[in-house]
Amino acid sequence: GIKIATIGGGSSYTPELVEGFIKRYDELPVKELWLVDIEEGREKLEIVGNMAKRMVKAAGIDCEVHLTLNRREALKDVDFVTTQFRVGLLDARIKDERIPLSHGMIGQETNGAGGMFKAFRTIPVILDIVKDMKELCPDAWLINFTNPSGMVTEAVLRYGKWEKVIGLCNVPVGAVKSAAAVLNKKEEDLFFKFAGINHLHWHRVFDKDGTELTEKVIDALYGPNADPAVVVENIKNMRFLYEQVKNLKMLPCPYHRYYYMTDNMLKEELEAFHNEGTRGEVVKRIEAKLFELYKDPNLDHKPEELSKRGGAHYSDAACEIINSIYNNKGTVMVVSTRNNGAIDDLPYDCAVEVSSIIRAHGAEPVNFGKFPPAQRGLLQLMKAMEELTIEAAVTGDYATALQAFTLNPLVPSGDIAKTVLDEMLEAHKDYLPQF
Ligand code: NAD
Ligand code: G6P
Ligand code: MN
Ligand code: MN
Repeated sequence: GIKIATIGGGSSYTPELVEGFIKRYDELPVKELWLVDIEEGREKLEIVGNMAKRMVKAAGIDCEVHLTLNRREALKDVDFVTTQFRVGLLDARIKDERIPLSHGMIGQETNGAGGMFKAFRTIPVILDIVKDMKELCPDAWLINFTNPSGMVTEAVLRYGKWEKVIGLCNVPVGAVKSAAAVLNKKEEDLFFKFAGINHLHWHRVFDKDGTELTEKVIDALYGPNADPAVVVENIKNMRFLYEQVKNLKMLPCPYHRYYYMTDNMLKEELEAFHNEGTRGEVVKRIEAKLFELYKDPNLDHKPEELSKRGGAHYSDAACEIINSIYNNKGTVMVVSTRNNGAIDDLPYDCAVEVSSIIRAHGAEPVNFGKFPPAQRGLLQLMKAMEELTIEAAVTGDYATALQAFTLNPLVPSGDIAKTVLDEMLEAHKDYLPQF
């Protein structure tokens, strides 16, 4: 049987993960699931953990769910570690959103200054987890969902020197669904080629006979008469500039709006902030409702309310990747993994998010080749920004952090960069021992 440890088990997303394992139990017999959290998350772990136990019982499968605050106990001899923790919880996220916004910058959980600070808080913790894994489960796979997912994956590869890691995101899952919907085709009748980095990838769509359908999807989603589809709940389905996306000849991801439509997105964020608060504040309210539902001793299935979270359907990625590795399935999935030359425009050893064949030995990225200048310029800039952010997260070097801020297109350069950096270092200091 398979033993899995989930770090950040108190997450409100956990019922989705459990549902994914229940659905796949015949192929993927998970016999032990260890949900791990920390003191700050004790109550959440208790509530969602008991809900997980009821789900497993109702499904009638032979799987023990364990709840623990002792990570090392959980990691002993596991086959897979999945990570879905949030260092500093939602209050830290709200600071990541509010501080940049108060200086007229995008405030977002994985983009701009906020995303960089999430990396600063998270990377030391993931490297600590890797240290424990080397000792307690040296053959295990690390399936990372914790944001910023691409940078966290690269930190594990480069600084953790841990090869068996795969980073995940639910955006490609949603992109495939929306393309299939506008083309009025089944997902399995289409072929997708994704490449880029996490929250900044482009993709092409083909028919099974090889006909390219990308431009058709661009027109359907972003053409003059189109009503752009919602791909993830946390990003407004704002229209792109049609001539510009058309010129890409590839579909952008929803996060591209922060770079292609910065002014409109900032306006949108400020409006939302005044009406309902930042996304983190909205999520706090959704989460409170979810935990009220999870407390119901009769509830033994995933409630509808969970689909209001941006990460909805992430278990389709998380559970399927484990299934594909365990059963050596050769499924094509979009994952963060080592480039190895798949994208010619990026360093060989960095993490990229690309369509990959998943087998027992891991992810084999499908070659994408070179990008045209419009994509290449942004991609190379953002990858360099990521490299510096990861380096600053590991070393705590102030100048490196400032350099990363300077490169990030969502952070203006000069005194303003320093002001925001200093304010955020102070606001988050309890979670930044390296600085
Ligand atoms: P959350 O705020 O509910 O946090 C999950 C749990 O992590 C909490 O119970 C918390 O106590 C725990 N935690 C914090 N620090 C920990 C540590 N050091 N060790 C163990 N547990 C710890 O978060 P959430 O909204 O459920 O999101 C979880 C994570 O998943 C976040 O990092 C979020 O950005 C990420 N996420 C990723 C995607 C994706 O596409 N990759 C989608 C949605 C969410
Ligand atoms: C998206 C992304 C995640 C992101 C999340 C936010 O779909 O892929 O990486 O962090 O959803 O969702 P939330 O509901 O927390 O705003
Ligand atoms: Mn994501
Ligand atoms: Mn900048």
